[in-house]
Amino acid sequence: MSKLPYHIAGKLHLTGKSRFVADEAPLANQLYAAFCFSPVAHARLLSLDISEASAYPGVFKVVTAKDLPRENQIGHVIKDEPLFPGEVIMFYGQPLAMVLAEDYSIAAHAASLVKVEYEELKPILEIEEADAMEEWYIPERRIERNSSPIPEGLFELSGKSSSAGQEHFYMETQRARAIPLEDKQILVQTATQSTMEAQVVISHLLGIPAHNIIVEVPRLGGAFGGKERAATIWACMAALGAYLSRRPVEVKLEREDDMRSTGKRHPFSSEWKVLYDSTGRIYSYDITLLSNGGAYADLSVAILERALFHAENTYHIPQICIRGRSCRTNLPPNTAYRGFGAPQGIFVIENIMENLAQKLELDPFEIRLRNAYRVGDITPYEQSLPQVPLPHIFDRIRELADYQAMIAEVEQFNSAHPYRKQGLGLVPVKFGISFTTALLNQGSALIWIYSDGSISVTTGGIEMGQELSTKVAIVVARILGQNPELIHVESANTQRVGNASPTAASTGSDINGNAARIASEKLRHQLSQAFIEHHKDNLGIDIAEEKLVFAESRISCGEYSLSFAELVNIAYQLRYPLAAYGYYKTPDLHFDRDLGKGKPFHYYVWGAALSRIELDLLSGDHRLLDTYIVHENGSSLHPEIDRGQVIGAFIQSMGWATMEELPCDAKGRYLAVNPSTYKIPGIRDVPETFVVELLPSGSEEASVMGSKATGEPPFIYGLSVFFALQNAIRSVKPGAELSFPATPEACLRALD
Ligand code: MTE
Ligand code: HPA
Ligand code: MOS
Repeated sequence: MSKLPYHIAGKLHLTGKSRFVADEAPLANQLYAAFCFSPVAHARLLSLDISEASAYPGVFKVVTAKDLPRENQIGHVIKDEPLFPGEVIMFYGQPLAMVLAEDYSIAAHAASLVKVEYEELKPILEIEEADAMEEWYIPERRIERNSSPIPEGLFELSGKSSSAGQEHFYMETQRARAIPLEDKQILVQTATQSTMEAQVVISHLLGIPAHNIIVEVPRLGGAFGGKERAATIWACMAALGAYLSRRPVEVKLEREDDMRSTGKRHPFSSEWKVLYDSTGRIYSYDITLLSNGGAYADLSVAILERALFHAENTYHIPQICIRGRSCRTNLPPNTAYRGFGAPQGIFVIENIMENLAQKLELDPFEIRLRNAYRVGDITPYEQSLPQVPLPHIFDRIRELADYQAMIAEVEQFNSAHPYRKQGLGLVPVKFGISFTTALLNQGSALIWIYSDGSISVTTGGIEMGQELSTKVAIVVARILGQNPELIHVESANTQRVGNASPTAASTGSDINGNAARIASEKLRHQLSQAFIEHHKDNLGIDIAEEKLVFAESRISCGEYSLSFAELVNIAYQLRYPLAAYGYYKTPDLHFDRDLGKGKPFHYYVWGAALSRIELDLLSGDHRLLDTYIVHENGSSLHPEIDRGQVIGAFIQSMGWATMEELPCDAKGRYLAVNPSTYKIPGIRDVPETFVVELLPSGSEEASVMGSKATGEPPFIYGLSVFFALQNAIRSVKPGAELSFPATPEACLRALD
């Protein structure tokens, strides 16, 4: 096959040529939207006085709940979310009214002239408070197993663990542009991970059939889950504006408005209890996971479910009871974020492993291996594990890191330095791939081969920096033997591919890649038929289809050979279809929510990370010295892209676990709403020694062409830095508890 394009999208980003939503020049007659955001987190809305704002020169219209043509409802999974609040304001920063004006600064100024009259209600902000009030979107969910009897005389350890929220900090803020077309059609160009959700919700909101709402996504400037559901409201705003004004409308959030008003990763708080023996083997685990869902259900229930599915991580625990409740609070609706609840669930059991290892003076690898799943084991929800590469992954990490020498070095360093301490942290992962909502595991692709041999591919997948487009092009190139440079992966558009699941759950390349594979196989068959007919007609020879080789832009059978473009032209002349539609659904998924049993995942991705830090006991500051990651991912379609995903996910989760804080005042107002007060990792936070090894694995259970998903599983690895910090602290203060995230302040508190 021809040389791979390095990164199709990356090359465009690097040269400044990539185009995003609302990057094109404004359209003639375009209106700009700005919002009046709620000044309080929880209140009865008494009145909105829009008279002054409406009269402001340049304002076209101030849109409120009263202007909605139908129901005030944009909920998708659970229908509990209004576009604009009706009687009750539910969070600080909630949009109350939308001003449409001739330019953005007019709209923004007029928005400040909207007068809001309200009666404040007490905001509920904390998980425990909401839980005590039984503010749950759905009743408690539970997964349990009580299979084998457990020995007598076990030790008990119990505690409470919390993990914090996280701002997505995508570079491109939320945005959409809606353009009225002929008759009743509206084109909505929006920065969403889900064209289908935007289409369905807008169609419902406006009472227009879905075929008249065209949703298009050129690409996203990062999403990380923050545009799976949370983008819908802004697409609805733009579409509503275009519907009411019959003019193009652009919605583009300022960074501060975006950070203040949009939901984040779910904070979790969990109480747990384990029973274990003197060797560190855990026999029983009881955990209740509570999550802070924010004002509306959004994806909170699915996120909680994934947390439950990952609560035991890589361990076989004979007796287990995993409970979960997701709680409604007066914060912006918390939403999908890389890992989708799994990091929150895994954090708890891994922190327990660290606690037990230190209590029993066991090596962190050793205690994890003692409890690890073995091939053929089944999870608490009864999915069996045909593959458990953990022992091999651990061996490889120890080898790469020269682990024994590293331990000796840390000990030596720590005894030589009274005010600086090194610490080690380890975290393994087993991450389930598939949407836990089984019906979402389907996808389509539409491919056109044009008469010159160039190829256009559309899937329902969204390019958001993960280079899905490159992976899809690779799949098509491999099957058709065409040069990837002559394959264009198009924007997602509901007219070309409808009913697309969100590009999420790390399944983008599995689902869309497989759909593209199926479409390519059809095309290959159609082209083969043309090749055979052509040789029969012209040379009188019979060629068997399976003898044809598609490679290096040629189709050949021994001495008979045509270039790809020649064959395409012949196929056109002979009247063979040069388009194909591929449909893929992930096989054999089922799950019974009442029983808590089934096979929710197609397969698992495994891996582990080991990090070493050096902590300054006086300032609480640290340096990240080493990180070793071994990540199992089948037979990669593009190892460099996958390596980039692993690195990016590690850095992002290290930010979550050690740096990023979302201070919120007693009135429910997020205080860090711009980059100067919200600190994400930068280039100087990359580990000084950073080794990432991709471990190929048997492809029996893997997905597209033997590859495995990569997007989210490596998000777990950043927890190794948290545990390394805790380990350093415990070298001077055994048993110290480090709070999450492990900021310098948290480290000092733990040392106090
Ligand atoms: N990588 C980049 N550069 N930008 C992103 O927004 N999102 C992550 C991950 N990697 C993201 C990313 C998340 S949350 C998911 S679910 C997957 O990519 C989605 O894409 P995939 O399914 O094609 O891997
Ligand atoms: N991951 C991401 N998004 C989802 C999922 C999931 O498992 N289920 C429903 N939406
Ligand atoms: Mo990713 S959180 O599933 O968009």
